[in-house]
Amino acid sequence: MDQSIKAYIKQLVQEAVEQSASSLNNLPPSTDRKQYIIANWKMNKNIQDTLEFLQQLKEGNGVEVVVCPPAPLLYPAKLYVQGQNKKIHIGAQNVHQEDKGAYTGETAASLLKDIGCSHCIIGHSERRQYAHEDDAIVNLKAKQALKRGLTPIICIGETLEQKQQNQTEKVLTKQILGAMDGIDVPQVVFAYEPVWAIGTGESATAEEAQRIHAYIRSVLDYLDEHNAEKVSILYGGSVNENNAQEFASMTDIDGVLVGGASLKVDSFQKIIAVFAKGA
Ligand code: PGA
Repeated sequence: MDQSIKAYIKQLVQEAVEQSASSLNNLPPSTDRKQYIIANWKMNKNIQDTLEFLQQLKEGNGVEVVVCPPAPLLYPAKLYVQGQNKKIHIGAQNVHQEDKGAYTGETAASLLKDIGCSHCIIGHSERRQYAHEDDAIVNLKAKQALKRGLTPIICIGETLEQKQQNQTEKVLTKQILGAMDGIDVPQVVFAYEPVWAIGTGESATAEEAQRIHAYIRSVLDYLDEHNAEKVSILYGGSVNENNAQEFASMTDIDGVLVGGASLKVDSFQKIIAVFAKGA
């Protein structure tokens, strides 16, 4: 495509997003958005740790609690919560974009659904970095998850370098538009996870995160002005029991995706409690 046409389209998108941002500012926040607290265990824990954790973990009390263990632990985790009749969702950390076939080491969305998963994290920055997943793959994975009845939790976020170059909004816009191609806005959950905040102990400030979440919502509003208010947008990146309250008090922060602090049941439970209070 001609560069000048590309630049023109970019400018149109930018203007539309700015317009939605100013109109959204006048809208009262939606009160019916689901609040999510998600544990992303990454490549941690064994079967005994998992069952002990789930035994101690209490239900969300009005917030959706999703525990995402490593793939081999998904089924025992699901059987355990089901057996205990606990309202705790089990989610995967990744899914493959194809239905089935010769993809050694991958997991199909239909299998995740079959063993009782309800959610799936897609496009986490560690997968973007180590498995080279780009926005097109994220889009295919989200479509595949939806096709099989899993709710995609789509992760987006800028690197430190991009932040320092004032590229945050531009990067996020590209990630959102890429991920959402052909997908209905109300079907997904977003997680804003600035890459510089993940596992570093240096979270975004709640005000900074709120500003970015409002921006993300304005991009979703550009895609679907009737449903952007319904989408839950979670914050992730060094969330812990001490800073959760600040995030919970922000209008556009509808929960958190927790890595390190989700490994200890006490810390994770305290984070849930903070959000459950306001639910
Ligand atoms: P963290 O990880 O809470 O350890 O920063 C968050 C994530 O990667 O989802």
